[in-house]
Amino acid sequence: MVYITKRFHFSSAHRVHNPQWSDEKNREVFGKCARINSHGHNYILEVTVAGLPDPETGYVMDLTEMKKTVGEILIDKVDHFNLNEDVDFLKGVNPTVENMIMKFWDILKRNLSSSRRSLYSLKLFESENNIAEYRGADN
Ligand code: NI
Repeated sequence: MVYITKRFHFSSAHRVHNPQWSDEKNREVFGKCARINSHGHNYILEVTVAGLPDPETGYVMDLTEMKKTVGEILIDKVDHFNLNEDVDFLKGVNPTVENMIMKFWDILKRNLSSSRRSLYSLKLFESENNIAEYRGADN
């Protein structure tokens, strides 16, 4: 298998909180990310697909095609939006990197896999030091 990765950037606002809890408990558990009027992050998403190179192109996946597909179905829907308010597939979801990456997986899995390759992993950086990685429900 060859693993090929493309990196994407997006900037979004969010508020991490549990609506069942008091403001005080939310502050205690989520710190700055629970602030009521939200705040922003510059996210980085690394998308890795695995497969064997096509004998004609030498590509596991044409990265220009990946850029277009991921851009249209995911990045354009979250970039410069408020993740709590504006994103249909995150409605009612507490936008931690863990919850976000699982939703992203569901969307990308359907659109990036083909007979010769499959989505292998997603890595979502909320900051340089806070990172979630996901390889699907079975891994
Ligand atoms: Ni935050």
